Amino acid sequence: MSALSDAATGSRTWGYANPVAVRFGYGVLDELGALCGARSVVLVCYPEAHQTGLVARMERLLGDRLQGVVSDIESNPDAEGLDRLYGDFWRTHGQCGLIVAAGGGSTIDTAKVLMVGTASGQFDELLQSLATGASFTPAHHKPLIAVPTTAGTGSEVTGWATVWERARGLKHSLALKQTWPETALVDPELTLSLPAQPTLSAGLDALSHALESIWNIHHNPVSDALAIEAARKVLAHLPQLMKALQDRGLRYELALAALSAGLAFSNTKTALAHSISYPMTLQHGLAHGVACSFTLPMVLERAIGANAGRDAVLGRIFDCPLEQAPGQLADFLERLGVSTRFEDYGVSREQAQILIAQALDGVRGQNFIGRHT
Ligand SMILES: [Fe+2]
Repeated sequence: MSALSDAATGSRTWGYANPVAVRFGYGVLDELGALCGARSVVLVCYPEAHQTGLVARMERLLGDRLQGVVSDIESNPDAEGLDRLYGDFWRTHGQCGLIVAAGGGSTIDTAKVLMVGTASGQFDELLQSLATGASFTPAHHKPLIAVPTTAGTGSEVTGWATVWERARGLKHSLALKQTWPETALVDPELTLSLPAQPTLSAGLDALSHALESIWNIHHNPVSDALAIEAARKVLAHLPQLMKALQDRGLRYELALAALSAGLAFSNTKTALAHSISYPMTLQHGLAHGVACSFTLPMVLERAIGANAGRDAVLGRIFDCPLEQAPGQLADFLERLGVSTRFEDYGVSREQAQILIAQALDGVRGQNFIGRHT
């Protein structure tokens, strides 16, 4: 195995592209009106956004442009709920010029589903293509400005959305050239009031995105640079933030880490830890951020040694010899109250081995560099 990276030996070509314009920093939300211009807007947000004052703030920022508010968003959006939401949206707001999505991953993913219209105006047409893998070309399309209110999902800078179909035990990924947001407006101010549990879950999701883009067959030097920076920030700052949720500096660092991780995996997609997470969420009800992070030490252990270039990149994240990194990462998670043992989530050792084997064969599992080691 060469000690040089694949790129240095010239054995591998790569590319990086992301069409999302990013505005980042305290106060950038005030730019929303100018970004919308003369377009009429439908705001997509989570139900509690009414009580937290977010809807009122958006009403002030958008003024007469605001044509409607869709706030009955469910977490981990399911085909059943989307069916009604989608039909209502295209019937009521088919003429709007733009969608603004303010919320976490579920909200932004729901907006990505709404933004691509079928010829019939019915969601079923879109679901059929997701379920069968048939190509889908939207008959109508609304641009999207994504405003994350959590620091983790990365959905504001990716081109895909997760759609669950619990009735059939399935998870689909909607990914079209039309589902990339036009702009990501990332204002850390919006994360200041986020409670402890979603803060933790989102931060761990960002860490998972960063690591999963590195131990990934689609890795490239741009995603690596973004992912190293993101992972180091989460490891350094998330424990501090959990003790000081109102700290503006730490919220800034986590928002930046989540954005960087999002930009990294926007070009690589995820890998084994996310592949394992889907049944853990579907069958065991785990929040996404915990489901995709509690296995990170185990996946890291499998990744180490698979490729010298990947080892070198992973080595830049941990302040210890790489062979000690899985243990250090497990300590990090346990100290945050996240168990790294399947048994603690109701999955026996034997069941876990089956689940991991199936996850390695899943679409995302096939991205994992350690798949054949
Ligand atoms: Fe994720």
